[in-house]
Amino acid sequence: MSIATSKPLYSGKAKDIFETEDPNILRAYFRDSATAFNAQKKGEIQDKGKVNATISALLFQLLEQSKIKTHFVKQISDRELLVKKVSIIPLEIIVRNIAAGSLCKRLGIKEGKLLKEPIAEFSYKNDTLGDPLLTRKYITSALEITNNETIDYLISESLKINEIFKQFFLGIGIKVVDFKLEFGYDKDKNLILADELSPDNFRFWDAKTNEKLDKDRFREDLGNVEGAYQEMLKRVKEGTKQDHKFQASTLNAQSFKVRVQVLPKQDILDPQGQAVEKALKSLGFTEIKDVKIGKEVVFEIKNGSKDIAKSQVKEMCEKLLANPVIEDYKIDIN
Ligand code: C5P
Repeated sequence: MSIATSKPLYSGKAKDIFETEDPNILRAYFRDSATAFNAQKKGEIQDKGKVNATISALLFQLLEQSKIKTHFVKQISDRELLVKKVSIIPLEIIVRNIAAGSLCKRLGIKEGKLLKEPIAEFSYKNDTLGDPLLTRKYITSALEITNNETIDYLISESLKINEIFKQFFLGIGIKVVDFKLEFGYDKDKNLILADELSPDNFRFWDAKTNEKLDKDRFREDLGNVEGAYQEMLKRVKEGTKQDHKFQASTLNAQSFKVRVQVLPKQDILDPQGQAVEKALKSLGFTEIKDVKIGKEVVFEIKNGSKDIAKSQVKEMCEKLLANPVIEDYKIDIN
């Protein structure tokens, strides 16, 4: 494929995007420029463009092996990737495993707290507004960016990606603290992962020492920024080498037993429960009260992660197994 060398179609904070001869393919050129705090802090990180292009290429390929659809086509030089043209959804999906950054500031939590469960949250991709945090209703009803079904898909896809990354990075001695994803629609209207995957949009901590190996070194003036980026490149290259190849298939190997208990909410009229209560009392069991009749649903689910399996079961409850307006549900998963 021959590459056009015109002026960029779009110039972002760290990448220039060019058209190619194929209208559906773009060329992303990764620069060394670095920004932080919504571009209030600016600088350069030597060879960052090379590191980020290469780490992104390797991580996109890793995800593709695990059947995650991405915009990645190929790496054509040390700073350039060919990617599918997408129409970006103006949402930043941030996945968090360990408390850091804006979560700590917002909630007063100490950096480093392991979150009970991974969190996927949304911000509005809007520099003028400072990328504000969004609720589901802000997305569907105020901004009307997308619908609930797409939000559910983005959450489950992002949590799946998180599990793939947590497993891969643990293998190279790295904790995945948090990261930001962006998705867009390709020409066939498939919703696919876009943007980049690099120390610019991930927080990576060394698993043994908790040393920060990402853009926080630049944000917080910690020094040795270039060294941290090079260290991440070295480890990702090692981890993705053929001989240690990450086995995506192991992610699909686990089977979980699920038990869902569905009961009418406390303040909801339950005629069946009332009838049984009356009958029991008439049989002499006068000491009982608040009888509720519900149902129990049991099944097995296969997934690479208990967290994802649980979020899928929750979605099943919300959509089919329970009526969340009048019923409570409890999920047991083992
Ligand atoms: O700042 P905050 O703690 O919300 O960032 C969470 C994660 O998302 C970090 O890994 C950060 O690098 C990434 N992020 C990003 N681009 C943004 C906001 C956050 O890559 N605009």
